Amino acid sequence: MKILIADGLDQNGQNILKEAGHELVVKHYEPDDLVKAIPEFEGIIVRSATKVPQAVIDAGKNLKLIARAGTGIDNIDHQYARSLGIAVLNAPGANSYSVAELVFAHLLSLARSLNQATNSLREGRWEKKNFGNGFELAGKTLGIVGFGRIGKIVARLAIAWGIRVIVYDVAEIETELAVTIVTLDELLHTSDFITLHTPKSSQPLITEKEIAMMKRGVLIVNCARGNAIDEKALLDGLNSGQVGGAGLDVYSEEPPKNLELVRHPRVSCTPHIGANTIEAQQRVGVEIAQRIVDFIKTL
Ligand SMILES: NC(=O)c1ccc[n+]([C@@H]2O[C@H](COP(=O)([O-])OP(=O)(O)OC[C@H]3O[C@@H](n4cnc5c(N)ncnc54)[C@H](O)[C@@H]3O)[C@@H](O)[C@H]2O)c1
Repeated sequence: MKILIADGLDQNGQNILKEAGHELVVKHYEPDDLVKAIPEFEGIIVRSATKVPQAVIDAGKNLKLIARAGTGIDNIDHQYARSLGIAVLNAPGANSYSVAELVFAHLLSLARSLNQATNSLREGRWEKKNFGNGFELAGKTLGIVGFGRIGKIVARLAIAWGIRVIVYDVAEIETELAVTIVTLDELLHTSDFITLHTPKSSQPLITEKEIAMMKRGVLIVNCARGNAIDEKALLDGLNSGQVGGAGLDVYSEEPPKNLELVRHPRVSCTPHIGANTIEAQQRVGVEIAQRIVDFIKTL
């Protein structure tokens, strides 16, 4: 099968595909060029950068599979593709640990004002007093919204840290982990830190109403999908002090055009790099390649 690797793929993953006899073209196309190039390919592998909307699928007359080297498939019009009999594959779970670790990077950064302290020292200042009001994560309550693959790893890491963990999920939760299952309202009322691990949804999960229910000074982390939080409500919450800090890896628009939120001094932010670790990319590359090889065997 002739497969386009549109956003790069780990070398081990590429080797698996080549050894199975597939022809690979590693090339990134801008949206209009992708529509022109796609007819010659039977498969396409994307990460986040390349979108596969209906126009690309319609132009891809020979497409048999669309693969996402990652978890979410919201950059692919997957329902439309499947309605035409085109398979949509992903590699869920291979990057979960990396995303979970980034949650703690943001929480620690916020708890100890790492970004401001770094900038202050770089500018030649020694502001021990200004940065003397940090706090520990241990002993606090972390609320996890969405207790799937990533939420569970966050819980395990938090428990090891001495953090009390409460969790909410729309699905029934069965777990061996030492967590307390609560309602969303209870989670909002009692958490010192809240982290979101839900799939992309049409409506924000956290709006002005939910923020008003939270403890004053709460830290909110979103390494899931940008539209999980109403960003205007979050900015208002930060400005009023209701929200003590926010750790963001994802945005309603990527890259964000409105920089007010990311420039806020109590925001720790990264450009959607939750899955971008060496280990995660290796695991994702191998897992998606193996899934593609197995799928093609069934054709
Ligand atoms: N930042 C990154 O680079 C990065 C990388 C990988 C995944 N993600 C995102 O992280 C999120 C979680 O990924 P995952 O692999 O843990 O997914 P998952 O499917 O394993 O878990 C999601 C959980 O959320 C629950 N859920 C759905 N809607 C809910 C709601 N309204 N309230 C509460 N719970 C709800 C589901 O029942 C499920 O248990 C996804 O949005 C994914 O796209 C981000």
